This record gives sequence, C-alpha cells and structure tokens, in this order.
Amino acid sequence: RQVHVVDHPLVQHKLTLMRETERSTQGFRRLLNEIGMLLAYEVTRDLPLEEHEIQTPVAPMRAPKLAGKKLVFAPILRAGMGFVDGMLELVPSARIAHIGLYRDPKTLQAVEYYFKAPPDVAERLVIVLDPMLATANSAVAAVDRLKERGCRELRLVCLLAAPEGVERFHGVHPEVPIWTAAIDERLDSHGYIVPGLGDAGDRMFG
Ligand code: PRP
Repeated sequence: RQVHVVDHPLVQHKLTLMRETERSTQGFRRLLNEIGMLLAYEVTRDLPLEEHEIQTPVAPMRAPKLAGKKLVFAPILRAGMGFVDGMLELVPSARIAHIGLYRDPKTLQAVEYYFKAPPDVAERLVIVLDPMLATANSAVAAVDRLKERGCRELRLVCLLAAPEGVERFHGVHPEVPIWTAAIDERLDSHGYIVPGLGDAGDRMFG
C-alpha cells in the first residue's frame, strides 16, 4: 500500500492558496492546473526508459526515451478535469479516459453517468485523477470500472485526501498507489474533507 504525500514547497504553497475562502474561481482553476503539472512530474518519476540510437548535430549516441505505450489520464468528472491541462503540459502525448461520476448527496454513493476510454486502455498505464479523495466511493468506482475494462496498471492522483478515504481505497484496491498533496484530519458527517477546501467542482466551475 503506497501513499506518496508530495511535500514539494511549490505544491504546498499552492495548495494553501487554494484552501483560502477568498480565492477566486479563476485563481482556484489556475492553481489546480499548476499543481497538476507538478504532480504529473512526481507520478511519472519511475517510468521505464529504453535506449535509442540518435544523432545529435555533433555525433551519434545512445540516449533514453520513455519505453512502452503512451499513458492514459483518467479524470473523474467534473473536478478531475482541473488536473488535465497541467498534466498534458508535461505529457502531451497522453490519451484521456473520461469517467463521469457524481456523489449522491444523501447516500454518498458514486453514480456513473459517463464512461469513455481509449480502445486499448487495458494495455496502458492509467493515472486516475480526482482532486478530492473523501469517502473514496468515486475513486473506488472509477478503478473498479477501469479494471472491468482490463486495466492492470493503475495509479491515483489527488490533491487532498481524508484518512478514511485512503483507508477505504486501499481496502478495496491495495495495489494502486496514491499520490496526494496532503492528508487532512477527517471527514465530516456530510462527507466533506475537514479542513479541506470545500467542494472542488463548485469552486472550479461555479
Ligand atoms: C466530488 C469530488 C470527488 C468526489 C469525492 O465530486 O470532486 O469526485 O466528490 O468524494 P468521494 O471520495 O466521497 O467519492 P462531486 O460528486 O461533487 O462531483 P463534481 O466533481 O462534478 O462536482
């Protein structure tokens, strides 16, 4: 069970700005995008490389390029979309799988309303994106669905997690590593992360 808390000062600083009530929609969106870029750097740190014969203007050499198939970013709609542009800045050739889930406000269960993944998604490393890991119902459902489609190599990137969410996610999918910028104190009775940053989807899209 791997949980990587990304404690890079830029990530921590930007996360604090995002938590502040007075942050505008525009500012919130921009910061999520920037953190997305930094988290993309962290989550791809151990990707395998392979040596290629190349020619520089001066001499031939052997040099590394990424090995294997392009990876897939799988944002959970809506809030996960906030990470996509930033991540694509660093990994422009990645494919995208869209996973539409909303959390029923009463039961807190994840309800699917859309799912569209590249046809060969099962052959690729899939990085699930969702800024908030609260009860983890959404992330568990997203990974369930991707596993149904045959995906075997999965990672989860979030911005903020509740300890309860980490516990539950790894209870169901222990082999899927998590990257997050912070693990907060707890969940409240409405399933909000405390102290958290409020509802990421609403703060981003209005
Ligand atoms: C929020 C959030 C996560 C989910 C986290 O989405 O963006 O997707 O809840 O909660 P969980 O871990 O308890 O499942 P919401 O259902 O509000 O949809 P939205 O992103 O479209 O606003």
